Amino acid sequence: MKEIKKITCIGAGYVGGPTMSVIAQKNPNVIVTVVDLNQARIDAWNDADLENLPVYEPGLDAVVADARGRNLFFSTDVEKAIDEADMIFISVNTPTKTYGKGKGQAADLKYIELCARQIAAVAKSDKIVVEKSTLPVRTAAALKSILDNTGNGVNFHILSNPEFLAEGTAIVDLHNPDRVLIGGEDSAAIEALVQVYEAWVPRERILTTNLWSSELSKLVANAFLAQRVSSINAISELCEVTGANVDEVSRAIGYDSRIGSKFLKASVGFGGSCFQKDILNLVYIARSYGLTAVADYWEQVIILNDHQKARFAENIIQTMYNTVNGKNIAFLGWAFKKDTNDTRESAAIYVADHLLEEEAHIVVYDPKVPAEQIYKDLDYLGTRSSEDNRRLVTVVNDPYEALQGAHAVAILTEWDEFRTYDWAKIREEMKKPAFVFDGRKLLKRDQLTSIGFDYYAIGE
Ligand code: UDX
Ligand code: UDX
Repeated sequence: MKEIKKITCIGAGYVGGPTMSVIAQKNPNVIVTVVDLNQARIDAWNDADLENLPVYEPGLDAVVADARGRNLFFSTDVEKAIDEADMIFISVNTPTKTYGKGKGQAADLKYIELCARQIAAVAKSDKIVVEKSTLPVRTAAALKSILDNTGNGVNFHILSNPEFLAEGTAIVDLHNPDRVLIGGEDSAAIEALVQVYEAWVPRERILTTNLWSSELSKLVANAFLAQRVSSINAISELCEVTGANVDEVSRAIGYDSRIGSKFLKASVGFGGSCFQKDILNLVYIARSYGLTAVADYWEQVIILNDHQKARFAENIIQTMYNTVNGKNIAFLGWAFKKDTNDTRESAAIYVADHLLEEEAHIVVYDPKVPAEQIYKDLDYLGTRSSEDNRRLVTVVNDPYEALQGAHAVAILTEWDEFRTYDWAKIREEMKKPAFVFDGRKLLKRDQLTSIGFDYYAIGE
């Protein structure tokens, strides 16, 4: 296998953008081109002002500043980039199907297939095609069959190289990964990709497997992580009725080295583009092989997560004398976790939707999410007209404006800045009794109650 000199990545999103930036930073002799159909997104990646990058991720600006224009390029010329590349990463989105067979569960592979057809049409020399997008198991087989049936005599090797970075810590995760996973059938192709990562990752942390193990491992890793969150969230409800404290339980069990302390933080529910989608994929695959018990087992992780979000909203309504109609509820945070501007599957969307059904008036403040995105997320649910969403929801750029005259505050994202607010001053500006519903267990109960708040936190 010849040395990789040019890499192209199709899809300049939360995964493709940061991953390729780091690959380019660490491999200065490889030309890395990231292409996307979305012109506005590419323009943002090329913006001279690094504040305007389309993905907010701590440390990303410095990596882009290092490599962009040197050996890292962003472009909409997909065909040229495919033609020139030795290795092509596919990092387009694979949303859950919203129509037809597998609706609400199966992954929609239409973008993946479009990429494969375009690669097949354009390629004039041999290529290594790397699946970066999370895919249902055995997608590589479909890719291979599309690529091999074009009859232009080009050889394609398919590799699976799932991404394990978490948003908000993507650059740290990429610079220092627990492991890099590469699945494939052709040892020379695998070795070519190993070399790209070996530029900064120790060889013993680069695992190689067969294609299907690699594809499945990504789904399973996310399912196990999500399961931990649902497990502790299930215990949080039990804590609330028994008088135990979920943080104390987490700490006590996390000290057992067999259990470990990470991913045991009770919350309003997990969100993000991966957990729900990947579990749904796992469930769909299991069901399609007739493995009903396996499918039901994993589906429960999602059912519990939906329950946790609904329960948080219900508690707000009940505590506020069973009506939130016309009341102002300030939402602190909209992103699915801190340090990202990504809102996909964020718990905030579902909690808001529940409260809006009761005609609450919600004022949202998030340090990184723009108003259009918030309205888009609510409109996407289709629960009410977009006029009604705009009538009931206001988005502000100043947190104190959100809290002015509010009946209650709900904390949906664990942004650090929320801790530093002047909560005594906030209470003065709020309607009394002043309620705080802390979906992230971010604030200190003693401090808030001594100021005079009615403070509710998950699992206490
Ligand atoms: C996506 C998937 O959600 C995830 O499962 C997978 O592991 C990696 O790809 P992400 O990068 O977060 O993750 O998605 P997104 O931010 O939506 O980026 C995908 C990009 O692909 C978009 O910018 C979109 O414009 C682009 N795209 C999509 C193409 O360039 N061509 C297409 O045909 C489809
Ligand atoms: C996840 C995986 O961690 C990553 O390896 C994979 O590549 C993509 O999916 P991400 O979705 O970016 O990453 O974020 P993650 O940190 O895993 O958090 C997911 C959700 O779980 C967030 O909403 C977070 O707030 C929630 N969470 C996480 C909890 O509620 N409690 C926890 O203890 C941990």
